[in-house]
Amino acid sequence: MILFVLQLNIKLGEAMRLILLGPPGAGKGTQATFIAEYFKIPKISTGDMLRNSLNNGDPFNLKSTMNSGKLIPDEVIINIVSHRLNSSDCINGYLLDGFPRTIPQAEALKNNLIKLDYVIELDVPDKNIIERMSGRRLHPSSGRIYHVCFNPPKIENVDDFTGESLIQRDDDSEETIRKRLLTYYKNTQPLIEYYSSLSKLNPYLAPKFFKVLGTGSIEKVKNRLLNIIKI
Ligand code: AP5
Ligand code: MG
Repeated sequence: MILFVLQLNIKLGEAMRLILLGPPGAGKGTQATFIAEYFKIPKISTGDMLRNSLNNGDPFNLKSTMNSGKLIPDEVIINIVSHRLNSSDCINGYLLDGFPRTIPQAEALKNNLIKLDYVIELDVPDKNIIERMSGRRLHPSSGRIYHVCFNPPKIENVDDFTGESLIQRDDDSEETIRKRLLTYYKNTQPLIEYYSSLSKLNPYLAPKFFKVLGTGSIEKVKNRLLNIIKI
């Protein structure tokens, strides 16, 4: 049984609560940073949270699951997100990047009356994904994301703000990217139908669903997104 107890104290009408959906490499993390800054809300990236948790050991073998392109069990990730959403910085909203990723995860949000304003799908074809992810570089402690060609740091392989080294994610090998894409189509893509139907069935109470083209420059995608959600 999934234990998921949330006591959110959000002032209705004053918050911005949204989900970014999309395949690996769609640009969720990149765009989440801009949106979170714009609305002054936390970016809750389950991938970043899992990667950072590995610094304190890996008793549940999360690393091997992530590197095989599979998902962490629903009950584990739901528990992590439920704790995070209860933090005081979520009072005026939150951006969920990488959660939910399965129907049971989405149902856990719904059943626990977690308010959502928008669900946005970033649509990027598979042919762009490998190129994006093989050139990705990450500053692990902040989650800042670069690309060797499309968003390079000022100094090669060095974070612009801290001067620390950038890394390549272990799961960014071509073989693992292909497995992650399969996992996405099997487990996460059904959420697009789930949220678009919900939004049509109940346009006033359900989150609004939008599909946004995720190709073109990072700046262009950012403007497309902000045009939809900015108040
Ligand atoms: P996670 O870290 O969430 O990975 P992901 O969803 O596979 O997505 P990515 O982070 O790889 O891509 P992104 O869409 O954020 O793209 P980014 O902005 O970096 O999850 C990792 C693993 O953790 C999962 O496989 C799973 O095992 C586990 N996990 C996490 N959440 C879970 C959950 N809820 N349930 C179960 N398991 C879970 O951009 C990619 C690159 O493209 C960058 O280099 C960027 O600079 C570049 N780029 C971005 N936009 C553009 C653009 N417009 N043009 C050109 N390049 C661009
Ligand atoms: Mg990401």
